[in-house]
Amino acid sequence: MRILSGVKPTGRPHVGNYLGAIRQHIALQEKNNECIYMVADYHALTTLRDADLMREYRRGIALDYLALGLDPEKAIFFFQSDIPMHAELAWILSTITPHGLLERAHAWKDTKAKGNREMNAGLFTYPILMAADILLYNADSVPVGKDQKQHVEIARDIAEKFNNTFGDTFTLPEPDIPEDVATIIGTDGQKMSKSYNNTIGIFEDEATIKKQVMSITTASIELAEPMPIENDIILGLYEQFSSSAELDELKANYKAGGFGYGNAKKALLNKIIEHFAEARERRTKLAESDNIKEIMHEGAKKAQKIAITTMSDVYVKTGLS
Ligand code: ADP
Ligand code: TRP
Repeated sequence: MRILSGVKPTGRPHVGNYLGAIRQHIALQEKNNECIYMVADYHALTTLRDADLMREYRRGIALDYLALGLDPEKAIFFFQSDIPMHAELAWILSTITPHGLLERAHAWKDTKAKGNREMNAGLFTYPILMAADILLYNADSVPVGKDQKQHVEIARDIAEKFNNTFGDTFTLPEPDIPEDVATIIGTDGQKMSKSYNNTIGIFEDEATIKKQVMSITTASIELAEPMPIENDIILGLYEQFSSSAELDELKANYKAGGFGYGNAKKALLNKIIEHFAEARERRTKLAESDNIKEIMHEGAKKAQKIAITTMSDVYVKTGLS
């Protein structure tokens, strides 16, 4: 099975991204799959207009994935813009994509409804570029969060349209939405998201992570009173990083009273720091060694081989060769 996904370099990843996406991507490489992951920098250009920040984020995401366990021997990992055929195929696909299909995309409708953002054409044709990412490699399965499911369905529709128009060319991809992945709640009780400024970092310095954890909203009760365990943000996050025995122990402390949210937050902070300690060390070493260019270059070479084969077929089918 060929699995493909992309991650947009638009900021530093947080605990929600890790638990909701990155962890799954990395786990899939172990199961005898052929995994292809890209840093979707062309996509990021729709909103990111600062060259230095772009360079920082794209390199940062690459370091993050590698530090968190992505193995470039097991998965193909590269920068999207290292393979300009993504943009080329996106153009070709755009010529057969019905305008209405893009008009119906939730992400585009949200952008229009908010009206506070520049509505560049790239935001509108975003799903075509994503379709090109997927179809260029004839991926079978695309692991993404719920918010990206429709984009994968659009890629499938575009593939079908192309196949019907020019003859069988592309594999029809399926979205892979992990059902058991919870939506991770941020420090203020909403979905953790960089847009809400309620995130807990992975690779930020310890003081920053501490500040984020300590800022978690809690119920206002007297210290001696038992702390309610329902809908508690700290417990929800703690559960993700601990065994069920450890979770039960913390819950028992909640129920006993006299424990306090300060202690609960410290317990959570320790778990988070411990969980990512190895990855943090690996990231520092990797950043210092500057092997990253070489690793990404090798990844692009592997990706390019597959992409060239697909494009040769596309040229023949469309009459461009
Ligand atoms: P953000 O909301 O911080 O901008 P993105 O939209 O860039 O995050 O999401 C990147 C990936 O991380 C997606 O696959 C998304 O489903 C996942 N993700 C983001 N936030 C969460 C969350 N709070 N809980 C679970 N998964 C999340
Ligand atoms: N659009 C995805 C996001 O916003 C990122 C992405 C780009 C992607 N290309 C992809 C995901 C190809 C899956 C497959 O998160």
